[in-house]
Amino acid sequence: SKGNHRHFMLKEIYEQPVVVAQTLRAYLRRLDGEVALPTENFDLAAVKRVTIVACGTSYYAGLVAKYWFEQFARVPVDIDFASEFRYREPVLEPGGLALFISQSGETADTLAALRHARLGGQTIAVVVNVPTSTMAREADLLLSTHAGPEIGVASTKAFTCQLAVLAAFAANLARAKGRLTRDEERRIVRHLSEAPAALAAALAYDEAIEAMAPLVAVARDVLYLGRGVDYPLALEGALKLKEISYIHAEAYAAGEMKHGPIALIDDSVPVIVIAPSGPLFDKTVSNMQEVQARGGRVILISDYDGIQAAGDDCLATITMPKVHPLIAPLVYAVPVQLLAYHVAVAKGTDVDQPRNLAKSVTVE
Ligand code: F6R
Repeated sequence: SKGNHRHFMLKEIYEQPVVVAQTLRAYLRRLDGEVALPTENFDLAAVKRVTIVACGTSYYAGLVAKYWFEQFARVPVDIDFASEFRYREPVLEPGGLALFISQSGETADTLAALRHARLGGQTIAVVVNVPTSTMAREADLLLSTHAGPEIGVASTKAFTCQLAVLAAFAANLARAKGRLTRDEERRIVRHLSEAPAALAAALAYDEAIEAMAPLVAVARDVLYLGRGVDYPLALEGALKLKEISYIHAEAYAAGEMKHGPIALIDDSVPVIVIAPSGPLFDKTVSNMQEVQARGGRVILISDYDGIQAAGDDCLATITMPKVHPLIAPLVYAVPVQLLAYHVAVAKGTDVDQPRNLAKSVTVE
């Protein structure tokens, strides 16, 4: 049931601190400061390339994971939409690891891609939320998210749980590759363990986001900008907004704006900038200022320091707790989800059952 919440989507957004904690419990030995994935029977040290395949929101989780796998484990990652994967004749070398991400475990394109990778001799790892699903059954390595049933068509809690598993997996792979000291592993476990409380703190901004939703609800087009792992989050924000509020939204890597899309900017196109303070902050802010110099109106999502440094000329700001960069993608998913949710409610759309969409896409 929806409990006290008006929609399943909102209930599921609010479940995130609990379900992410549940998911992390399965993959971290917190007291020992160790990541613990069921990889004993796999020679991860021998993995030379990871191929990630998924659709929609699950694909964006995979895009974040690409940054983590390459940064921590120094293993090159290919990533494809499932609907593209088979048809581009991907080069699958023996000994490769193919990783499929899916809430339902039934998405037809992803399942077909999994079988294609199997024929290509890949070890098949899956991150799925439905443990009885077809993908779960066909996997060599099953990494379940423990988000519980997701009813709202727009995926929310499954996404943050996927990120939690993928971060732990990246650390696990890095360890197997000899790329992680005991201390670094301990630190990663500690940062990941801080995610549930940080998610709860992010939820405290719900009312403020609700109050600014009308600023976005009147728009015909919205842009989302981010750099690094915040770029996939921008993509996720744009997807959430499109699917439940029917407002046209696009995401760009912030540095790409000047190569074309900045031509779209005027005062009728809200620009949502996702920029936690950190090494990429100044770069993103200079892209944001390029937008503002052309009359663009910005909603900046950052932490207190970031808002202090760059929030002055913004249309609105959303203040997240200051968190370690590793867990920032989980935490910043929350305002992105809430903004889409409240804009949709303001527009009076059917949030849990958006038009033309099904929860599980079982046709190719
Ligand atoms: C977006 C959404 C879809 C799914 C996509 C993949 O909110 O729900 O984009 O993420 O259809 O579904 P799964 O993860 O079940 O394979």
